[in-house]
Parts: sequence; structure tokens; C-alpha cells
Amino acid sequence: MTPLFELKGGSMATLRVFERGGKLIVRKSASEEGINNGKTKLYYEATYLKTLRKFYPDIIPEILEINVSDDQVAVEMPYYYDGLTLHDLIVKTNISQIAGKKIMFHILDYLFNTFYKVTDTGVANEVVKILYINRPKERIITGIEGNSNLKRISANESIIINKNRYTNPLILLDKLSNNERVLESISPRHIYQTHFDLIPHNILVNEELPKEFKLIDPRGQEGNLMASDYIYDMAKFKFGFSGFDILKNKRFTVRTIKDNEFIFFYDYSRLNKRSFWSELTFIDYIKTELKDQWITQDDSGWAERLLLAEASHFLSDIPCRMIKEGDDDTMLGFFLKGTILLNDVYNKMKVRHNLNIND
Ligand SMILES: Nc1ncnc2c1ncn2[C@@H]1O[C@H](COP(=O)(O)OP(=O)(O)OP(=O)(O)O)[C@@H](O)[C@H]1O
Ligand SMILES: [Mg+2]
Repeated sequence: MTPLFELKGGSMATLRVFERGGKLIVRKSASEEGINNGKTKLYYEATYLKTLRKFYPDIIPEILEINVSDDQVAVEMPYYYDGLTLHDLIVKTNISQIAGKKIMFHILDYLFNTFYKVTDTGVANEVVKILYINRPKERIITGIEGNSNLKRISANESIIINKNRYTNPLILLDKLSNNERVLESISPRHIYQTHFDLIPHNILVNEELPKEFKLIDPRGQEGNLMASDYIYDMAKFKFGFSGFDILKNKRFTVRTIKDNEFIFFYDYSRLNKRSFWSELTFIDYIKTELKDQWITQDDSGWAERLLLAEASHFLSDIPCRMIKEGDDDTMLGFFLKGTILLNDVYNKMKVRHNLNIND
């Protein structure tokens, strides 16, 4: 069958649209392995979707076929809503701010009312360590091993960005890792079912009313429901509006002054202004709606965890940028943005948890 057209994704996977029996079908295939993408990831993604579909048929795509051969994994599903994602609806169309806000709130509310379920109980300190401390740490180290520029920068205790001094993220991650009191305080009290890559580019939306949506591209384990921290998803959602695109599409400027000194800013003039209010809309949601959700009731550390998770998402993306873009600047952008956010949240924690000056 000849494809009608190709879809643009952010990874090593290839997505092609075909027509079969009068219906449009998406075929997603991967033939290599790689960090965060590739054959195995696609296989897990498809089996996870298949399991989820049994419970949430209205918001999970139908998996028509999973085809595994020695050199390729291919997955087929219907082509939904002309390929429109929540990100594109908000950033690229003429949707009004009020309408955009309504749909974002609708999707998030729906997820909290149906998708996020407690699957286990007990303070989950290890979740914070695994996802928001060890993961970014390992990813930065992978970056350092593969890139001499990052290696040179990371040899410094502090990094100066736009004349402000920030502590090297590896140092901050180690400090957090050793502080059981803080870890305990910001850890979730339960474990929830999680999507695990809830950037707004992975939410398909119907432009027609009533609004429907589908969650695509989760990270899965073979056939099992994934249990983790709902804040991981919320931070991915925020990350999708707060810089992931801007950095990935090189809409920023970075200038190296010295080994550890940079000028770094987003090129606001080249950006559609809507990407700013879409981030603000999410912050609005956090301030007005999320704090009243049942899920945050016994989770007093959720807000700090969200900021830590957001910083961690930027830092954890470093190796993916190296493989995909093959250019230092994009990777450096993710490193600098993650460094700023990690320092910001660490300073907040210092105040709230009375950490002393050397902590
Ligand atoms: N079933 C579908 N119907 C309509 N559009 C789709 C569908 N699946 C994917 N798309 C479009 O293709 C884009 C890329 O798809 P997807 O998110 O699955 O891949 P990816 O991000 O490249 O892969 P990965 O994160 O697994 O490495 C989506 O953002 C969306 O625009
Ligand atoms: Mg995707």
C-alpha cells in the first residue's frame, strides 16, 4: 500500500497514513533502538494502549494491529481528528483564549475524574528519587560522556546564565538525593496510573463540538498498567508549553561568554504569543483547579514536586537532543533551561524546609 502522507513526530519512529476500506489508518513503525524511542519502546507503547483501551475506550485509540518482526515493530491505529493535537490547536490555530482554556481545563478535569486512580498506597520516596533525581542525573552523565562541550561546562561548580549564578544541577541533585527529610516531604502519598508522556503534542483533539480527545504515545511496560506519579504527567504537560518546542525548534539564542557563562533567551519575537498564554492557562489551572482536586488533598508536596519534575524533564531530554539534532546548541538549551528551573525550585525548598546555607 502506498502511503497518502507522512506525519511528523519527535522521534525515530516513522508515521504514515494509509487508506483501507474507506478509512484512514496510521502506521507507526520503528526499526532501531535508541534512548527514549525505538522498537522496544513502540512495542510497550502499543501493548499499554491496548490494555488501557479496555478501560477507557473513549479517550484511548484503538490498536488495530501490532506487528513484530526481527528488524521492525509496526503498529496500526485509526487516524483521528485530522491529526490535530492539543498543542497545535492552542498554539497554531485561531482558537480564542477562552475556548482554549475551556478545552485544556476539560481535558485535565476529565483525566482527574477518570484516568488517575490510586493503584498503591504508602509514601513513595523512591518515586522522587528514581524519576526526578536519578533519571536527570544519569541523563546529564550520558550527555557529558557523549559531548565534550557539556563535559567542560559541567566541570564547574556554578554556571552563570544572563549574569545570574546557578549551582551545577549535578550538585543540587546530589544534595536532594541525600536529604531524606525533604524527599519525604515532597513525595506522593499514593501511586497512580500514569500516561508517562503527557505533552500536549500527545493529546489528539477533535475540533468539532462536543470536544473529544485521545491520548497517544504513552510510555508503557509490556501489557501492564503503568503506576507512578500523576505529577510526572502534569509536569510533562507544562514542559510541553514552557519550552520543549521552543528549544527543540531552535527558537532561542545561546551565546557562550566563558566556559561556564552564557547569554540565553527565547526568541520571543519569532513565537506565536499563544504559546505564552497556553502556559499561563496551565498555571491558572494549577492555581485554581488542581489544588482543589481530591488528588492533591493529602499530597502537600505536589507543587514543589511539579517544579522539580519540570526541571527534570528538561535535563532528562539532553541525550535525546544529542541523538536527534546532533548539534550542541539544542542540547545546551535544554541543559540551561533545566539548570535555571532546578535552581529556582531548590531555592524555594530551601525556604520552605529551612535548609541551611550549605544544604
Ligand atoms: N492515531 C493518530 N491519529 C492522528 N494523528 C496521529 C495519530 N498518531 C500520531 N499522530 C500524529 O503524529 C504525531 C507523532 O505521533 P507520536 O506522538 O505517536 O510519535 P512520536 O512522538 O514521534 O513518537 P515517540 O514519542 O513514540 O518516539 C502526533 O503528534 C500526531 O500529530
Ligand atoms: Mg509523540
